[in-house]
Amino acid sequence: MDRIHIFDTTLRDGEQSPGASMSVEQKLEVATQLARLGVDVIEAGFPISSPHQLEGCKLISRQVRGPVIAALARAVEKDIDCAAESLKDAEHPRIHTFLATSPIHMHYKLKKTPDEVVEMAVQAVRYARGKVAEVEFSPEDGTRSEIPFLCRIIEKVIDAGARIINIPDTVGYTMPWEYSEFLKAIMEGTPNMDKAELSVHCHDDLGVAVANSLAAVRVGARQVEVTVGGIGERAGNACLEEFVMALTVRSDLHPYTTGINTKQIWNTARMLSNTIGFPIPRNKPITGENAFAHESGIHQDGVLKKRETYEIMTPEAVGRDGSVLVLGRHSGMHGFKSRLAQLGLSLSEEETRTAYERFLVIADRKKEVYDDDLYVIVSEQLGREMETYGLEYFNILSGNTAVPTATVRIKEGTEIHEEAATGDGPVDAIFNAIDRALGVQARLLEYVVQAVTPGRAAIGEVSVSLEIGDRKIVGRGASTDILEASAKAYVNALNRWKAFLSMRTGGTDESV
Ligand code: KIV
Ligand code: ZN
Repeated sequence: MDRIHIFDTTLRDGEQSPGASMSVEQKLEVATQLARLGVDVIEAGFPISSPHQLEGCKLISRQVRGPVIAALARAVEKDIDCAAESLKDAEHPRIHTFLATSPIHMHYKLKKTPDEVVEMAVQAVRYARGKVAEVEFSPEDGTRSEIPFLCRIIEKVIDAGARIINIPDTVGYTMPWEYSEFLKAIMEGTPNMDKAELSVHCHDDLGVAVANSLAAVRVGARQVEVTVGGIGERAGNACLEEFVMALTVRSDLHPYTTGINTKQIWNTARMLSNTIGFPIPRNKPITGENAFAHESGIHQDGVLKKRETYEIMTPEAVGRDGSVLVLGRHSGMHGFKSRLAQLGLSLSEEETRTAYERFLVIADRKKEVYDDDLYVIVSEQLGREMETYGLEYFNILSGNTAVPTATVRIKEGTEIHEEAATGDGPVDAIFNAIDRALGVQARLLEYVVQAVTPGRAAIGEVSVSLEIGDRKIVGRGASTDILEASAKAYVNALNRWKAFLSMRTGGTDESV
């Protein structure tokens, strides 16, 4: 089977995505994970663009072994010198040089004639080949370039030593069937194309970057440029995990292999999301929270009977824990009972029926019923006390010149826990003080505050989502003072966690 080379540009095109910048150390961590994932090429950056980019490329070249390390350069000597310097310690270095070839880019941006562009590209590739053995050339805005001109420039750069020819859909304009015809015409019109590997680089402005990449491999592209999560300029690039899983799941249509260890997909996506602070959209294929979640009663029933009824791949195949049956207003008794059993919450038949009715009332009001809501329902059913902790008092010292400091007093039965802590802001200080007072180690996953009544004296409702151990717990609190609402929400989450600990009778699933 043909091997498709995965060229990952998360650290270059991906990092160009507004808000996605990473420190040099973070880039190294991501690059190390990309090597673990099994990508063939890591484009580490655009060294001439800043000292920080140069440093990142150098560090990755020095430390990451296995994949080819590529550095981007415009088709000018100073860029190529800088790229070569950044790659000097790389095990397998590659210079990726690019120059625009579309009429609009040549005329308005470069202000060069087509002949001048050919000359520049040839000089650049030749110069880069004097520095490293592997050179990739990209005619920028390739899909809006004229085919005869592309064939001419590609033939010349291959003669000058380029071994990878990448045809970018820079502005995400092309359609899958159009792209494959376009690529075929280039391959047919370039006499020495057999001396180079054809690569594609698709942007997602019209949402078809992955479809375009798939269309390209069907007609002969053997390198595909992608980013984790599809991050990149504007609407982003073709998404690595979607492309790889489309090849894998539909291997009947795509008789190709990649070096990707799909079980590392989830770790990689999560790591990138945590590093750059971009949450993974819930409905994102493969890695979104909903990608393996089933809510409707019919779907839950089907999945419980045979998973393949509604799942075309397993969550385990991409390194995730398992499918989740999301309980909501569409869920049936089968899903409800199965979740209680997974959580180790045991009720008699009669109690389960009453709890299910209560669940339906709550599900009607809320979009999603979380596991900790189930603990509340079950504890009510069993007549158990939910409130282990009571917030007695809190005090905040804050201001634009003071280190935010919070003191809290929390009652647990007859015992009083009192502690003070500082934080990055008043809310952080309160949460730190509560953690310290109760001796818990909770990670704040989400903090949302919203006004539930109008006007300046509005009641604010805070919801927090915490991770304690491997469990996710949600808490809510309301007050006209949002700091008090925050403290209440946090304590509420900890009460729910305590309730869970006290009710658990040995379930099977730790993921929520
Ligand atoms: O989108 C693009 O054209 C690019 C090139 C530098 C390959 O990112
Ligand atoms: Zn790009």
